[in-house]
Amino acid sequence: MIGVFDSGVGGLCAYKELRRLLPREDIIYLADRKNSPYGTKTKDEIIALTKANIKRLSAYGAKKILIACCTASSVHSELLPEEQRLSIPIISPAARLAGELGERIAVIATNHTANSGAFSREIRKTSDACVFEFAEQKLVALVEGGCRDGRVSSECKEELLKIKNKIQEVNADVLILGCTHFSHLEGELKWLLPEVNIISPASEGARELIKKIKCDRTGCGREIYM
Ligand code: DGL
Repeated sequence: MIGVFDSGVGGLCAYKELRRLLPREDIIYLADRKNSPYGTKTKDEIIALTKANIKRLSAYGAKKILIACCTASSVHSELLPEEQRLSIPIISPAARLAGELGERIAVIATNHTANSGAFSREIRKTSDACVFEFAEQKLVALVEGGCRDGRVSSECKEELLKIKNKIQEVNADVLILGCTHFSHLEGELKWLLPEVNIISPASEGARELIKKIKCDRTGCGREIYM
């Protein structure tokens, strides 16, 4: 069984990709709504929540856990070795791909992720691209409140237009959706920024996890949400 967690609906984008690629795998999804949002919390609080989620999912029998939340993934190196071994963070696969694709990389993320510089650090390991990180916490609440591709409120449209201007101002050729909630608006952002390569850590992270597990060909594709 694979465990997946996020503070809310963001990780569902990673879940969808996992389910598409692993139809028989049993998957358990934890949306930690009680403690949402993560992006406005302190580093210590995020570490504590990440540890608790890993513990809870492994108690349910998860053999590998996808941290389908960039904010929680940004503290992965602070976890105990056993917790690190059990879990897959989603920042590095997206950062690697961004470094291969572009020279001016914009990242939109939560307050915590953007201020931590986690994406910049990871991108610099494989590329010397310029990185521009923007905190877009307000968009998390809008997505949590129901905004999705094709279902965008006027307030959400306004936020997306502001983001479009910021990305164009820095002349970015790649945009990382550095908060999994934003993958729900990938279509809108592609439409607004057709010339920019858009990367979703949710999908890249799901593919990374698959590389690291022995797929279950005998499972029945059970789904548990909590
Ligand atoms: N979806 C999460 C992320 O990728 C967290 C959003 C939040 O709870 O602030 O960072």
